Amino acid sequence: MTSPKLPGQQSGLLFSGAGSDAVPEKTSPAVEFRNIEIAYGKFVAVRDFSLSIRKGSFVTLLGPSGCGKTTILRSIAGLVDISGGQIMIDDRRVDDVPIYKRNIGLVFQSYALFPHKTVFDNVAFGLKYRDVLKPEIRRKVGQALDMVRLPGSEKKLPSQLSGGQQQRIA
Ligand SMILES: Nc1ncnc2c1ncn2[C@@H]1O[C@H](COP(=O)(O)OP(=O)(O)OP(=O)(O)O)[C@@H](O)[C@H]1O
Ligand SMILES: [Mg+2]
Repeated sequence: MTSPKLPGQQSGLLFSGAGSDAVPEKTSPAVEFRNIEIAYGKFVAVRDFSLSIRKGSFVTLLGPSGCGKTTILRSIAGLVDISGGQIMIDDRRVDDVPIYKRNIGLVFQSYALFPHKTVFDNVAFGLKYRDVLKPEIRRKVGQALDMVRLPGSEKKLPSQLSGGQQQRIA
């Protein structure tokens, strides 16, 4: 394992998870960070970070507050630009691919639910955006709500849910 050299941090970032650190020679990693650097203006938030993630593995980034975990996740989706290195998905370089062409889902740390939309409309949002047919949307939303054990909450607004319930809807 390597950890990025982060400015002003006593300890760096750790990552763990089955298959996260060793990708067999013949298996291409699903996601690969190659020596990436991410800066906010003059402040370098992530420096020389490398990680190979094998397809199907579950990976956790663990580190002190402010060490760069969210910044790294946002860089996969394209919400922040990297200032050095490369990001590969299925052997394809994606760091120069525009955000709307990356096809990456991200659950935001602050949930990012639409406060004026119901639970149903929040969950359905991405599907509607992709022109999925209404019966299929209803089926998938139902399935998702069952999965997070919130069936029957379709008509509620986010403000009527607990923090944990909002997290599950997100
Ligand atoms: N938009 C921004 N502009 C400038 N600096 C930022 C911005 N976003 C994050 N930072 C800084 O970059 C560093 C990494 O932030 P990041 O949000 O990635 O941390 P984190 O590891 O996810 O922390 P936490 O565990 O608190 O969520 C922090 O020092 C933070 O202050
Ligand atoms: Mg964070």
